[in-house]
Amino acid sequence: SAAEKGGYPHFMLKEIMEQPEAFRKAVFPRIKDGRVVLEDLHITPEYIRNIQKIDIIACGSSYHVGMVGKYNLERLLRKSVEVVLASEFRYCDPLVDEHTLVIVISQSGETLDTMAAMREAKRLGARTLSIVNVVGSSIAKESDDVLYTWAGPEIAVATTKAYSTQLAVLDLVGLYFADILGTIEAEEYRAIVKEMLCLPAKMEEVLNKTEDVQYFASRYFNHASVFFIGRNLDYALGLEGSLKLKEISYIHSEAYASGELKHGTISLIEQGTLVVALGTYAPLFDKAMSNVVEVKARGAEVLALTTESFREKMEKTADSVLCIPDTHRMLQPSLGVVPLQLFSYYVALQRGCDIDKPRNLAKSVTVE
Ligand code: G6P
Repeated sequence: SAAEKGGYPHFMLKEIMEQPEAFRKAVFPRIKDGRVVLEDLHITPEYIRNIQKIDIIACGSSYHVGMVGKYNLERLLRKSVEVVLASEFRYCDPLVDEHTLVIVISQSGETLDTMAAMREAKRLGARTLSIVNVVGSSIAKESDDVLYTWAGPEIAVATTKAYSTQLAVLDLVGLYFADILGTIEAEEYRAIVKEMLCLPAKMEEVLNKTEDVQYFASRYFNHASVFFIGRNLDYALGLEGSLKLKEISYIHSEAYASGELKHGTISLIEQGTLVVALGTYAPLFDKAMSNVVEVKARGAEVLALTTESFREKMEKTADSVLCIPDTHRMLQPSLGVVPLQLFSYYVALQRGCDIDKPRNLAKSVTVE
């Protein structure tokens, strides 16, 4: 009913709008006096010091959270982090032992493949830490440790606030471990924590100004196919942006690491092909720009996403530019995902799709 949707036409839009509050609930109680405190964890500093590698296991958008997490955790911890699809992990005779920490990410806590992969990891001796939204769900109960995302019930099939809070919690895990391992400078630690506390307000800025996204959605909703390109965190972000778009609007969409363009995808770029170019990761902004130039030269129509500091530069080259506030580079995907969710939402709306219940999809996949 309309009341359940809090006055919004769809649960998806309601849940997109709830993200600043959900982020606050997931993160703020876990930061005390400028330090990340994960009181719900039983894992000891000694165990953390002895971790040889981290495997992140998940499906769908939760897997995409893991993709962002890989970049952030490896940089923070200087330990090897692998992200594995649960459906692959369970059948690949994984190289996991008691020195492996397996981080399992799941909104529902009931995804069958994720559950089976977690059991396999436990059987091989790994320690498991789950990041779960649904309290008391199977994965939460069976993992050695659980960190809840506290996003509240998510009704729309396409995840939004669960994604954001999973990512926030994974970033907190990275900071917490880095502090224990001594792999982060005090100054950077402080800067990231400070920025995390600013993120909800910055998300609100994006959510209070949706005219640009709505305009671009009305301009591009008729495209038959879209390519999301980016490097590093922007590549991970593109995977989620692309999945969101295809699942609710039924537009064919693919995400590519920009450096791979030349190895195949660029042959698909013709006059008018829509490319969503992600250029929010500051250290590689120049590379992002040169990829925009490259696809423009083949006739692509480019919708770019960048941060305020790079807006002017990007506007000189891309056809359309969406802009988000600047934050610490590690946290940029937490802001970047918001306009991508909105873009998918408004594109699907223009196309008259059943946004909250896309065809053939389920909120929680409890069969193989
Ligand atoms: C389904 C949902 C996705 C979700 C995925 C994993 O495909 O439609 O939104 O990301 O399952 O679900 P989980 O509950 O394990 O995060």
